[in-house]
Amino acid sequence: MPHILLQQDHTIPFECDEQFSFVAQGKYDQKIGVRDENKEFLLTKLAKKDGDTLNDLVKIDVPTRLSPVSLMKKALESYTKKVDQKVLFTNIHSKKNKIEPEQKYLKTIDYFVDQFKTDKDIFVEVGFGSGKHLLHQAKANPQKIIIGLEIHYPSIEQVLKQAKLQNIENILVINYDARLFLEFLSSNSVERIFVHFPVPWDKKPHRRVMSIPFIEESLRVLKIDGTLELRTDSINYFEYTLELLKEFRNYPFQIFKDQDLQIMSKYEARWRKQEKTIWDVIIRSTKNSDEIYLEGVFEFPYKYDKQILLEKLSREIVRQEEYFVHIEDIYDISNPFEGLLIKVTFGSFHMPVTKYLLLQNGDIRYFQGAPIRTRLNLEAHEKLLEILK
Ligand SMILES: C[S@@+](CC[C@H](N)C(=O)[O-])C[C@H]1O[C@@H](n2cnc3c(N)ncnc32)[C@H](O)[C@@H]1O
Repeated sequence: MPHILLQQDHTIPFECDEQFSFVAQGKYDQKIGVRDENKEFLLTKLAKKDGDTLNDLVKIDVPTRLSPVSLMKKALESYTKKVDQKVLFTNIHSKKNKIEPEQKYLKTIDYFVDQFKTDKDIFVEVGFGSGKHLLHQAKANPQKIIIGLEIHYPSIEQVLKQAKLQNIENILVINYDARLFLEFLSSNSVERIFVHFPVPWDKKPHRRVMSIPFIEESLRVLKIDGTLELRTDSINYFEYTLELLKEFRNYPFQIFKDQDLQIMSKYEARWRKQEKTIWDVIIRSTKNSDEIYLEGVFEFPYKYDKQILLEKLSREIVRQEEYFVHIEDIYDISNPFEGLLIKVTFGSFHMPVTKYLLLQNGDIRYFQGAPIRTRLNLEAHEKLLEILK
């Protein structure tokens, strides 16, 4: 991550301008608002101790980092010129820019929120790991779209490389928690959902992908006769899934023991070698589901007073059944306007989002724009409105 280390100097006032839009003072650090090429992000400035001396470390604020990296490096370069402090270290001229993975296959969640539309049949694979099964399905079904979900980034990079090498055109890969992803897909649009060898989480069953809400969402997105397919070597996971299926009596399911598939993943090969039993549970959708529409907007409809917010906002975590809201930090802005920058983390426990709220002239807006429009983010936003009111 680009950063600079400067000799500390308290005498230089920081003048805001076109590029640097505000300075916000927190308890331990400062945030500096940057605007460039219609994008905005934050720099973090904090004191760094080196023996008896204190220096200034200026770096990119992680939750607001964006691409291209060159934009962030440019901001650090302008900052260095502006403050005229002695540079002790910088990595902003380093040419070691990380090669971006093939964008053709790797999608962000915004793509699924705003753009994804297809008339083709869809397969979804949850936690594809080494990607052997995902790539096999893509090659065997060139006319279908195979969406791969994975939370482990090195696995994603490996699959992106393989997809490119093997000239595969029909996969879309996303670094996202499967428990939250299905809500971005239309009802009755998917043919098969594979959950192969999910992590058993014997000690933390609440972390399992399979759950009542996940099966409900799977049945919503599956077409009639579409299937949700669990394959596991864990008898506990197998029995747990059968227990869940008692809630879905109208949906038929089949069980197979030691069934051979056309492709064997790395995990499966290991379990087979140990002569473990492999279980399949195949649940079939039997009816069409209604489309879901999310209600609500990410707006702050009131006028807010800086002093009142400063006095009353608590940093306690507000927990609800499915989501939480945590005001993490409050930064005071007095240069070049009176305002606040509030760092808040909220949303699902599985995949929370960190955002900043910017208070200026009594209005609050999400710095860098609204969070992703998910049911739990909208619910968390409503809770946030209550907290701020
Ligand atoms: C035991 S591995 C199995 C990999 C692959 N399916 C196979 O059969 O070889 C489980 C994979 O699921 C991924 N995973 C775990 N929880 C997940 C979640 N909530 N969403 C997406 N992927 C998940 C893990 O990162 C891991 O790569």
